[in-house]
Amino acid sequence: MEAPLFLLTLFLISLINPISAVDFIFNGFDDSPSPSSRLSLFGIAKIESKILTLTNQTSFSTGRALYSQIIPTKDPVTSSVLPFSTSFIFTMAPSKNTLSGHGIVFLFAPTTGINGTSSAQHLGLFNLTNNGNPNNHVFGVEFDVFANQEFNDIDANHVGIDVNSLSSVYSNTSGFWSDGDGNGNRVFKPLKLNDGRNYQVWIDYRDFVINVTIQVAGEIRPKIPLLSKSLNLSGVLEDEMFVGFTAATGRLVQSHMILAWSFSNSNFSLGDSLITTGLPSFVIPKESIVKSKWFVSVLVLICFLVVSLIGLVAFVVVRKRLERERKRALMEDWEMEYWPHRISYEEIESGTKGFDEKNVIGIGGNGKVYKGLLQGGVVEVAVKRISQESSDGMREFVAEISSLGRLKHRNLVSLRGWCKKDIGSFMLIYDYMDNGSLDRWIFERDDKKYTLSCEERIQILKGVASGILYLHEGWESKVLHRDIKASNVLLDRDMIPRLSDFGLARVHGHEQAIRTTRVVGTAGYLAPEVVKTGRASTQTDVFAYGILVLEVMCGRRPIEEGKKPLMDWVWGLMEKGEILRGLDPRMTTSQAIDEAERVLQLGLLCAHPDPRKRPSMRQVVQVFEGDKAEIFEAESSEDVESWMLKKMGSRGSSQEFWYGSSSHPTIEQIRLHSLSVSLSSWNSSILEGR
Ligand SMILES: *[C@@H]1O[C@H](CO)[C@@H](O)[C@H](O)[C@H]1NC(C)=O
Ligand SMILES: *[C@@H]1O[C@H](CO)[C@@H](O)[C@H](O)[C@H]1NC(C)=O
Ligand SMILES: *[C@@H]1O[C@H](CO)[C@@H](O)[C@H](O)[C@H]1NC(C)=O
Ligand SMILES: *[C@@H]1O[C@H](CO)[C@@H](O)[C@H](O)[C@H]1NC(C)=O
Ligand SMILES: *[C@@H]1O[C@H](CO)[C@@H](O)[C@H](O)[C@H]1NC(C)=O
Ligand SMILES: *[C@@H]1O[C@H](CO)[C@@H](O)[C@H](O)[C@H]1NC(C)=O
Ligand SMILES: *[C@@H]1O[C@H](CO)[C@@H](O)[C@H](O)[C@H]1NC(C)=O
Repeated sequence: MEAPLFLLTLFLISLINPISAVDFIFNGFDDSPSPSSRLSLFGIAKIESKILTLTNQTSFSTGRALYSQIIPTKDPVTSSVLPFSTSFIFTMAPSKNTLSGHGIVFLFAPTTGINGTSSAQHLGLFNLTNNGNPNNHVFGVEFDVFANQEFNDIDANHVGIDVNSLSSVYSNTSGFWSDGDGNGNRVFKPLKLNDGRNYQVWIDYRDFVINVTIQVAGEIRPKIPLLSKSLNLSGVLEDEMFVGFTAATGRLVQSHMILAWSFSNSNFSLGDSLITTGLPSFVIPKESIVKSKWFVSVLVLICFLVVSLIGLVAFVVVRKRLERERKRALMEDWEMEYWPHRISYEEIESGTKGFDEKNVIGIGGNGKVYKGLLQGGVVEVAVKRISQESSDGMREFVAEISSLGRLKHRNLVSLRGWCKKDIGSFMLIYDYMDNGSLDRWIFERDDKKYTLSCEERIQILKGVASGILYLHEGWESKVLHRDIKASNVLLDRDMIPRLSDFGLARVHGHEQAIRTTRVVGTAGYLAPEVVKTGRASTQTDVFAYGILVLEVMCGRRPIEEGKKPLMDWVWGLMEKGEILRGLDPRMTTSQAIDEAERVLQLGLLCAHPDPRKRPSMRQVVQVFEGDKAEIFEAESSEDVESWMLKKMGSRGSSQEFWYGSSSHPTIEQIRLHSLSVSLSSWNSSILEGR
């Protein structure tokens, strides 16, 4: 009994719903092997890469795709409209160059094909003639991105429900209602249909109510539909209809694509099976902006500016570097050679107790001289600080380093090291000289106890002479001291004289013509020709040495107020045959009286106004050493010199000594001439120098 009942039930079910159950789902569309078996394409519609492309960006085109089989839309028994639920994912890829149009319609149509349709604003749904005709039997849901006033479109981005007409019965701006908070406060969020994003649409029809919902594909379906309207489709739909999509472009173009589609008239959850992930994106990348002319020109401008800036910076850097290289080249020789002698600033700073004023032992032309202790307070040094930032200070520094640094002689103050803190802050570190400068011994110490004896003075002068000789001849290039004077002669612990202050020294090749544009030296020690021409030479050093000799032996400064210049005074004494009266009265001369006279004469000769008549430093040293044999061998073109040197041992008349043989001009002539030369220059030098 049960089996027939079961069969009857089955039969009844099949009667109730014999052909009405339609379910299909497309997650991507197959172009091969036989698309016609499932989808029918019209117009320019095509399937490419699993995407149903209704239109590409061809203008005034129409594309339509229908499920290939006609489906029942009304109950064959009751003729009531069957419910349906469809969901699909579409994309409208906008045109890169122009405005985009026009739209996609999901539709039920009684026939296949695109006869009776137009492109552009007609969306491939109707044409101008049949739009609004009740005999169309067409129902559609349009996604329209163009506002046609003739169809009362609300805006250029709307969703509408069309019944036989493009003038929608209902429409709303595209978007969705947020699900809202617990209080039911919902927010409408617009969605731009043709921004290239993929959108999922749900269209449900049941009990004369149609719901249309749209959201970005992949997002959760909004609970509240965008459109939820009562709609009686009984008179619109025929018993069997074709279902599908149509789309159109006009002058405005865009690609209309369907990526996935489900349809059912029984299962309202079928849309949940659409795959919403891993779909291609048709959002136009930002490169569209990059490619715009405006952007490109701005980019070019920025690049140009950046490149210019880099170029400028590079130029400045390179120039600075070149300058530094140049400076380094200037200093490199000695910096490299004397590298081991470089002393750290910190050591010097602590050695001089932070350059304490109490440690100042002298003030030179370019900076103070400090006494300091180095190597843990064991070694006494004198630190000459050249703080001048001028290039003169720099030049002086280099001069001292490059001359004094290389010169080693027992009668020269030796350079212990140097220090460079920053540009313009240099220090020279000398051996400390316990007994200070010679001028203090001669002029400042009235105390008999400290007065130097005649022998001591002669020893000192001898030492100075050999120091100068070393400068002039002892090294591969000729070094002029240029500033020989008592205060530049320092005395060490053993009263050995040492020449210092090579700041004014210049190194000259032996053969090189010696020229200078600047008179350097100290007034009173300047040879007449230096004052006149500014030219320094070994002879001018000899002159200064001669003055030093007279100064040391006579205990008088070269120039003292209200008195004859030292040289003229001694000269006068000599002419009167009273040269020994010139000797420093404080000085004990007991045994060295002959020697003292010879040295005074030597001093006068060295300070001769005529540079040609001055002996060379070598000859001076030879006189001191009493090595006459060598003196005669020495090449002396000047008769008067050799004559004088011959006479040095046997005291002749002072006139003869001074001016040579009587065949020369008379003493008075020469004297007058020389005086005029020397006095005029002396006077001018006094005026300039003091
Ligand atoms: C659009 O599609 C048609 C037919 O497939 C083709 O001839 C045309 O070149 C396509 N146009 C563009 C812009 O892709
Ligand atoms: C469309 O109309 C043309 C003539 O204008 C006709 O040849 C064609 O068969 C029609 N297509 C359909 C599907 O009705
Ligand atoms: C609209 O379509 C119908 C049916 O195909 C046709 O008879 C009519 O001429 C068309 N109208 C226009 C303006 O194309
Ligand atoms: C949707 O359309 C209705 C009228 O049909 C209107 O009242 C409502 O404001 C619209 N909503 C939006 C978000 O446009
Ligand atoms: C349409 O939406 C309304 C409101 O959310 C809902 O009550 C109704 O059940 C929906 N109808 C269909 C057919 O989905
Ligand atoms: C729907 O329309 C048909 C005729 O077009 C009518 O017979 C039917 O009563 C209507 N149904 C509703 C619920 O309005
Ligand atoms: C309806 O479709 C959903 C999603 O594909 C599926 O999970 C469910 O089993 C279907 N229901 C029926 C009754 O077929």
